[in-house]
Amino acid sequence: MRGEDFDIQVSFRHRVRFTRNAFAPGNSVLSDVLETRGHSKVLVFVENELRGFFPELEGEVQDYFAELPGLRLSGVEWLQGGEESKRDDAVYQAALAAIERYGIDRHSYVVVIGGGAFLDVIGFAAATGHRGVRLVRFPTTTLSQDDSGVGVKNGINAFGKKNFVGAFAVPYAVINDFRFLHTQPESVRREGLIEAVKVALVRDGEFFNWLEANVEDLRNLEEAVLEEAVERSAIQHARHIAEGGDPFEMGSSRPLDYGHWAAHKLEQLTDFELSHGEAVSVGVALDTLYSAKVGRLKMADAERVLKVIEGLGLPLWHEALDLRDSKGKRRVFRGLEEFREHLGGELTVLLLEAPGVGVDVHEIDEDVWEECVEEVAACSRV
Ligand SMILES: NC(=O)c1ccc[n+]([C@@H]2O[C@H](COP(=O)([O-])OP(=O)(O)OC[C@H]3O[C@@H](n4cnc5c(N)ncnc54)[C@H](O)[C@@H]3O)[C@@H](O)[C@H]2O)c1
Ligand SMILES: [Zn+2]
Repeated sequence: MRGEDFDIQVSFRHRVRFTRNAFAPGNSVLSDVLETRGHSKVLVFVENELRGFFPELEGEVQDYFAELPGLRLSGVEWLQGGEESKRDDAVYQAALAAIERYGIDRHSYVVVIGGGAFLDVIGFAAATGHRGVRLVRFPTTTLSQDDSGVGVKNGINAFGKKNFVGAFAVPYAVINDFRFLHTQPESVRREGLIEAVKVALVRDGEFFNWLEANVEDLRNLEEAVLEEAVERSAIQHARHIAEGGDPFEMGSSRPLDYGHWAAHKLEQLTDFELSHGEAVSVGVALDTLYSAKVGRLKMADAERVLKVIEGLGLPLWHEALDLRDSKGKRRVFRGLEEFREHLGGELTVLLLEAPGVGVDVHEIDEDVWEECVEEVAACSRV
């Protein structure tokens, strides 16, 4: 045989920072992470929705960069955000066109300020323009600050499939500016916290204990407690990506997708009327109860988890669980097959052994899972 195998290793630095009012005069969190040599350009994208909440933002961004030697603000572009922005490639194309128009090169920066959907679209443009320019994310929702914003995925929907076109790309930096964290509707802010519960359950039992002890303040969205939960969750997500051994999801084990196989299916079955956070709450509740029923987790611990989810005002059950196919089988179970297809190989689902300790299994006993559905249904209907 002629030829050789080459191992190519590339290392990335994932800078995750926390602050408040990053664009206030004198706040150096952003300028400290940007290299200012060589007079780099900065192009800022903000999602339209934020204009109503933060009308002064554009002026602050302009003043901030005016004071920074070595960095030049090319422009501030306001574009459509939310799930709508991922539906086709219009916003993606508009962002690419701006990257081209302003001459953003591989030593310049794209800064994006917005919710998870907007970060996905602009991140995809930044990952593909010039085959990748530096991206600094400012997530502005609970869910994107405590989970997706520190992730390494970008993308838009295509062929009716979510995130069908996209790229793995480690952002240059992620800045969680808590100023943005308190303007979403209360219920939406609470829903985002389920990802903190999830990451605590799969990685950090001590964090779960803390969430449990603070559940009432979290439900009331008490600022300091909410921010601490978001910060700890973001750090755990980033640490998993950096240290978990599979940042670009080549394998089948997906601890950060705990409870998500059912969640994704429930979102789809309800035509996305059920939000991601609510769907994940139901999925986490059921996979936790299941973990106990099959003898992996102590039932008392499962009950603690369900109590925390309920304590946050999040659901354990949803009527879409009762939808059945023509053979009488619950349609949610199709989610297992879709999850397997998504993993591209063997079904791998995480269960819990204790809060903070997960274990991969390759099979779900549907009869036992049914029992769990019946049980949470009974609690939820009372
Ligand atoms: N890339 C990843 O790894 C990853 C992981 C999980 C989820 N996601 C994606 O993230 C998206 C969901 O993100 P999301 O929950 O942040 O929702 P979102 O981005 O759709 O935002 C929800 C709504 O809140 C608005 N909004 C944003 N910031 C606000 C603020 N500070 N105050 C008030 N309103 C604000 C948005 O305009 C939108 O209407 C989905 O598209 C999902 O696919 C990506
Ligand atoms: Zn999720």
